[in-house]
Amino acid sequence: MKLLTNQIGIKGILEVPGDKSISHRSIMFGAMAKGTTTIRKFLRADDCLSTKAMFEELGVKIDDDGDIITVHGTGVNGLKPANKAIDIGNSGTTIRLTTGILAGSSFTTVLYGDESIAKRPMNRVMLPLQEMGAICRGESGTEFPPITITGTPNLKGISYKMPVASAQVKSAILLAALQAEGETVIEEKEITRDHTEDMIRQFGGQITVDGKFIRLQGGQELTGQDVIVPGDISSAAFFLVAASILKDSQLKLINVGLNQTRTGIIDVLTDMGASMTVSEDDQQNKSGSITIETSRLKAVEIGGDIIPRLIDELPVIALLATQAEGRTIIRDAEELKVKETNRIDATARELAKMGAKIEATADGLIIDGPTPLHGAEVTSYGDHRIGMMLAVAALLVEDGDVDLAKPEAVSVSYPNFFDDLSQLIER
Ligand code: S3P
Repeated sequence: MKLLTNQIGIKGILEVPGDKSISHRSIMFGAMAKGTTTIRKFLRADDCLSTKAMFEELGVKIDDDGDIITVHGTGVNGLKPANKAIDIGNSGTTIRLTTGILAGSSFTTVLYGDESIAKRPMNRVMLPLQEMGAICRGESGTEFPPITITGTPNLKGISYKMPVASAQVKSAILLAALQAEGETVIEEKEITRDHTEDMIRQFGGQITVDGKFIRLQGGQELTGQDVIVPGDISSAAFFLVAASILKDSQLKLINVGLNQTRTGIIDVLTDMGASMTVSEDDQQNKSGSITIETSRLKAVEIGGDIIPRLIDELPVIALLATQAEGRTIIRDAEELKVKETNRIDATARELAKMGAKIEATADGLIIDGPTPLHGAEVTSYGDHRIGMMLAVAALLVEDGDVDLAKPEAVSVSYPNFFDDLSQLIER
């Protein structure tokens, strides 16, 4: 696909689609709760639709009138065995969190996905779930999907020190722990997104969080709720970066999720000197608006506990750094290697093809800027966030065409991305 190039700016107001992490969880909690859950502004993208389809296969009735999704909860123990292996597509969140839910079931389920899913590590969730009493295994003795989960209604709470900073792992353990006997205590490596903890509280459960320590008593019942999904800051990130690096931009993003375990990109933009204002209009739903305009940016160093707060934004932050004055260093981000693709290598390789001064390191990236970008043949590698980052990079290109292979990957999290971007383009 030929990408739009040589643009001077983006202008206007945009509401990005619903948060992917919250959309997944709203179906999962709706299924595990007693009673009815309604979901407004659900993200209708491939990943979240995989979660919805999976719970339908597990016997949950879900109505969808195109606006509101209604989940008729079965209660924690009410899921039914699927009559075949379940395809979860490209979605790491679906396979990892559902493994936690199914750990407490009284049947066996097989979960599989696409080529990328077949390379995603699963021991990080299977090992703690096995400690709790579930039987989980990967394809022929490996840790990789397809995975087979034989749950047990006799799960036991555990104390678990997480070896990786991962909200998916934490969430899988918490979803199993809700069904277990006794208390579960998790110590996080770094604080990660806390949507699962928020939803446990919203659905009437109890959980104690003290810094990196999380405690939850098993045997809790959840009650259906009305959920309104805020816009996804990880999708907003592409427009924040586009507006700040193009010559003549002025943009307002409305109804963006501002949960502070997700707002690392706002901190980075602020440190780089972006002209931006953020207002949390709805404190209860942790959402608000962000205005941003063309900015003179300076390089920064990014590492340590901010990494989980911007893990999905790092490819587009690397693009941002190509336009900032000086050397940006991203470290402590080795988790990027086990995302939908190896995002350290993919980001460095594709941006270098366009003329960026960027180098992959063992745990991050080093970028020198500012550098003009030029045309090239690039690929998303089938990774939605790499594809969207490259589409933003192309807008800067004055010289040559940018041809993107596998553009359809964007439908994993943002099916209308190219349309929304072109609508904001100043012609
Ligand atoms: C997610 C957690 C993160 C993130 C992913 C969504 C979640 O993954 O990259 O896009 O919804 O819990 P990890 O937990 O593997 O870091």
